[in-house]
Amino acid sequence: MATILTVSASPSPTSKSAATRRLVDAHLAGLGHHVHPLDARELPPAALLGADTGHPAIAAALDLFARADGVVVVTPVYKAAYSGLLKTLLDLLPQSGLARKVVLPLATGGTTAHVLAIDYALRPVLSSLGSAQIVQGYFVLEQDITREPDGGAVLAADSAAGLTRAVSRFAEALALHHGAGFAPAEGYALSAA
Ligand SMILES: Cc1cc2nc3c(=O)[nH]c(=O)nc-3n(C[C@H](O)[C@H](O)[C@H](O)COP(=O)(O)O)c2cc1C
Repeated sequence: MATILTVSASPSPTSKSAATRRLVDAHLAGLGHHVHPLDARELPPAALLGADTGHPAIAAALDLFARADGVVVVTPVYKAAYSGLLKTLLDLLPQSGLARKVVLPLATGGTTAHVLAIDYALRPVLSSLGSAQIVQGYFVLEQDITREPDGGAVLAADSAAGLTRAVSRFAEALALHHGAGFAPAEGYALSAA
């Protein structure tokens, strides 16, 4: 079993990215992994913007990064890139903050015209942080996400299938990087509408 940090990074209190992250959390937990979710909007804003790495909440977040075998990042597409909130968090990591970690980049967005934001905007940043492997990402169209009152999400069938494949590839890459001790279970899929 792997230790996995899942990060959602939307400033919205009704974030579809956070709801999508919860689906991924459940999927990975269902595979037997230790999942530590982090919603960046819950970090103290002044400490985050002030790069106060000594603040207990910021230090705890950075510790989650340090201890993770794998990291899942879920960002909304903002202005054809990832969110500023995500950047403020990633900027606090050391230069090799993702070394030896497998990373899954995920995005939600309003138009498929920006599906490539994962690859031209997010992937280079994750790469510069030294990730051992950045697996193929996945973009979820916001119209395909129904946010539930409890903060969870239901996805349209095609998006649920695509996200399931992306998470499975991530789990397989983790198993390859960190040994066969947490090989993905078979037959597990995200629920769809
Ligand atoms: C400030 C802002 C900028 C946005 N820019 C884009 C964009 O460039 N491309 C896109 O596809 N969607 C864009 N969107 C739509 C969001 O990506 C989409 O609504 C997303 O699912 C929001 O996720 P969230 O609910 O987690 O914040 C933008 C939304 C906002 C609020």
